[in-house]
Amino acid sequence: PAVVEDISAEIRDLKKKVGATILAHYYQEGEIQELADITGDSLKLAREATKVESPVIVFCGVLFMAETAKMLNPKKKVLLPDPKAGCSLVDSCPPDKLARYQEMLRENGRKFQTVTYINSSAKVKALSDWVVTSGNAEDVVRNMVPAEYEILFVPDQHLGRYLQEVTGRPMILWNGSCMVHEIFSVQDLLKMKKQHPGAKTLAHPECPANVLGHADYVGGTEAMIKYVEGYAEPTTFIVATEPNMLWQLERRTPRHTFLPVPGITCACNKCPHMALNTLEKIRDCLLNGSPEITWQPEFDKAKDVLARSLLNPP
Ligand code: 13P
Ligand code: SF4
Repeated sequence: PAVVEDISAEIRDLKKKVGATILAHYYQEGEIQELADITGDSLKLAREATKVESPVIVFCGVLFMAETAKMLNPKKKVLLPDPKAGCSLVDSCPPDKLARYQEMLRENGRKFQTVTYINSSAKVKALSDWVVTSGNAEDVVRNMVPAEYEILFVPDQHLGRYLQEVTGRPMILWNGSCMVHEIFSVQDLLKMKKQHPGAKTLAHPECPANVLGHADYVGGTEAMIKYVEGYAEPTTFIVATEPNMLWQLERRTPRHTFLPVPGITCACNKCPHMALNTLEKIRDCLLNGSPEITWQPEFDKAKDVLARSLLNPP
């Protein structure tokens, strides 16, 4: 803790000197969320990035999030403490493979629009009609994709299947998944529900149907916060999402008790990509002015898809 305090103080100093705003996703360690100027889910962070006035943004999250911040506020210098912080969903959808699949659908006379989860590369976004997050996906599918089109939903099959169910719109699903949400232990979840009969279960829509089927509430991370805030009395919540989310939930609503669902192979199901960002790397990126997100040719097209999908809500 003394070391954490020292580095945190150093980061606060450097932040002022450099003119930086720190944005952090709810899946970052508590000590990083504590330091951040703004915490949020993917949608809130993307929208907040457009409002940043300081010359530098330090994005504590994964690569696709930092790229999104750069595309939506191109004049800013966007730093990502560890450039290797990727995402299994991004990896599951190579752009050339998607382009070939879209071509095949077109050749077969299918009339479709591509709706892409924000957890994707900029090249994939550039091949898309819409980009969605857990926070606006239902709205976009219901209100922005014209009814005459079929929907090709990429890359998260579980979010896609869930959206199909709640909106009634049939979809062609890509077979990607999140390595964290895919491995929650249903057996442990059922055991926990038995041990805490009054508890409510929250699950992220990146979870497979066999987990979502046992949830009282399905929603992204921002929606989870709103949901638990709606409970005035102290309540126990069993939470099926990345466990750092519990730090934020506990902080917002200390009256409640939050229990993380373990993974099949691990007691604590953390995202290894998010975990690559550390206090030391945040300090170093402020000191060095790198690693920086540089403009890529595919950003030109992807930024328009992002802007019309995320900044003009229906
Ligand atoms: P949200 O916080 O937008 O729900 O996203 C979850 C996630 O897995 C981000 O990588
Ligand atoms: Fe990707 Fe899953 Fe990690 Fe989010 S939690 S960054 S979806 S691997």
